[in-house]
Order: sequence, then C-alpha cells, then structure tokens
Amino acid sequence: MSWRGILEAYRSFLPVGEKTPVVTLLEGNTPLVFAPRLSRRIAPDAKVYLKCEGLNPTGSFKDRGMTIAISKALERGAKAVICASTGNTSASAAAYAARAGLACFVLLPKGKIARGKLAQALMSGAQVIAVKGNFDAALDLVRGVAEEHPVAVVNSVNPDRIEGQKTAAFEIVDALGEAPHYHFIPVGNAGNITAYWKGYREYKQAGKARRLPRMMGFQAAGAAPVFYDAPVKKPETVATAIRIGNPASWQAAKVALAQSNGLIDIVTDEEILETQLWLAVNEGVFVEPASAASVAGLLKSASRHHHPDCPLAAEVRASLIPASPIIVCTVTGHGLKDPDIVAHHKMKAVTVRATKGAVLEAMGLA
Ligand code: F0G
Repeated sequence: MSWRGILEAYRSFLPVGEKTPVVTLLEGNTPLVFAPRLSRRIAPDAKVYLKCEGLNPTGSFKDRGMTIAISKALERGAKAVICASTGNTSASAAAYAARAGLACFVLLPKGKIARGKLAQALMSGAQVIAVKGNFDAALDLVRGVAEEHPVAVVNSVNPDRIEGQKTAAFEIVDALGEAPHYHFIPVGNAGNITAYWKGYREYKQAGKARRLPRMMGFQAAGAAPVFYDAPVKKPETVATAIRIGNPASWQAAKVALAQSNGLIDIVTDEEILETQLWLAVNEGVFVEPASAASVAGLLKSASRHHHPDCPLAAEVRASLIPASPIIVCTVTGHGLKDPDIVAHHKMKAVTVRATKGAVLEAMGLA
C-alpha cells in the first residue's frame, strides 16, 4: 500500500479520532541511510545510520508534528494558527495551514532566519512578522497573544506537535527491527529529544522493541542552556535553527536525558561546520548546520583523545560500548534550507571561457 502520512501509519499511537480531519502532505517515511564512512570513523564494527528528516515535505522534521497540530487545530474549530520560529517551524506551519485553509501568523527573529525557510513561509501565504529580538522573545510574544486571542499555538509547547514527532522513533525501530544503542540529536527548543524519547518508550511498551537507546543531545556552544543548566540571554551560533537560550521543553528534555542514561553536551560552530561539509563530501548527505550538530556530537563523543571527560569516550576506553554498536543520528533539516552557508565554507565555482581548452585546464587535464 502506498504511504499515507504519519497520522494514518501510526493512528493507534496518536491522539486522533475518526472525526479528526487529516491534514497531510504525506510527511514521514524518511530514509534511514547507512553511513559507511562515518561508521568506520567511530569503530571498526559500528553501524551508524542517518535519519534524514530533510526529506520531509517542507524539508525538516517539523512536518511530523505539524500534520497532527494542524489536524487537531482544525478539529477544534480554529480559524488561525501562530508560532514563533527559528525558521523550520514557520515553513512547516505555513504549508500545513495553507493546506487546511487556516490563517497563519509567524514571528521570526529578524535577520536570523536562513533564506530558504523565510522563502517558504512567505510563499505559503503566512503573515510573516519579523521581531527585533531572538526566538525566546518571539515565543514569549506568541504565548501572550494566544492568551488573549483565538489563535492556536503550533509551537512544540503544543503537545500535539510532540505526538507527531515521536513517530520518527517508531520508523527507526520499524526499519532496524530494534531500537539503536545510541540516538544522537541536536537540541534547540528541546521538543524533538522529548518526542523521540516518548516514541521509543511507547514502542517498547507495545512490544515493538526490547531495548531503549541512550539519548545523546547536542547544543551549539553559544546557545547551550540545557548543558550549562542556566538560560542564555544572548544565544549565538551559526546554526540559526538552534539559536535558543530558554527552551520550552527544557524540563522534559532533562527527564529524557536522565531516564535514558543519556547525556547533553556542546559542539562549537567550527565543529558543526566541519561536520556539515564532511557529511556532504563523504556521505553525499547535505544537511543544514543545526542538523550537523548530532553527527558532530557523535564524532566528539567517540573521540578518545579530544574529549577524555565524555562518558561515551570513557566507555570506549573501558570497552563498555556494546560490540557492534548501532547508532542513529537524526539530521533534522535539508542543506538547501540555508544556501548562504557556502560562504562560510569558502566554496565557489571557477569561471572559464566557453572553450574546451579552458574547461580542460579547469579540470586539471590541460
Ligand atoms: N534542527 C533543526 C533543523 C531545527 O529547525 C530545530 C528547531 C532543531 C534542530 C532543534 O529541535 O527545537 O525540538 O530541540 N527548530 C525550531 C524552529 C526551534 O522554530 O524551527 P528542538
């Protein structure tokens, strides 16, 4: 049978009923891509997979949460939805609201949104409001407006979002036949790590998996409130998607980390960018900077030399890592979201005259 989106695929695990209208763009069912070169960098017998969430309809994992949030908003009779966003939530909300015929308002931190994401929100007809402040300020404003006006909030403070996003964990277990030993994931507003942990737990409860993974969360060093256990007033990182100083799902993420015996750590902008380029060059997978944080975190964690204090590195030394570890990294958004990032990598085309000689010279064959 052809794929009908996550609501139909996992209906019995989701808060939907027969009367819930199904607003879908056939999100989910994203590729779990084996990464052979990355696996070899971790350990000779490691198996590392990339859950490529950039292959969703609007290019990020947000679509899983949005199909449920917008379907439920419609069921409850909403006429308009609102969200704050570092970009991807707004792109997804705009598309699903358009599909549902709902008005959509998005509050974005002015000047800090990747170009592709802004284009998506505008092109789907959302009312885009650029706020002279960061994401945290925009989310506060959204909450204030929604308290007084009949607009449904579709940020991940809305539990329907978490419900939808947990289906990525279901798909991973369905694909592998078991949960991985480790799950690496970027952390911004902390909704997604919360959702994956919920999904893994529910699937184990349903008898679909025997084990639970350790949740390994990574924040950008300049925007790492969970790691430092204190809000960050002025978060800064090249990974604008996770430029967040006071995450909404902070407490839930702490529970996921503690219950899974996981860890929260940081990666620098340099590590994020280096990993983004490495993945594209060595695995053919082009992801946005925030998404590279999970893989950068894996590389950091597995390195015995560079990060001796990391629990995972200690486990490697003590050989506590299971033989043949199975590791999944969520890469949350597509590289096309943020085309301006090539400037950071100093990549550019060479321009030549339209002659065979000039082309051969540029190819190094002259
Ligand atoms: N990766 C990408 C590409 C994101 O867009 C986000 C969050 C995250 C990771 C972090 O996920 O917030 O659940 O911990 N983007 C939100 C947005 C904040 O507005 O698009 P999280």
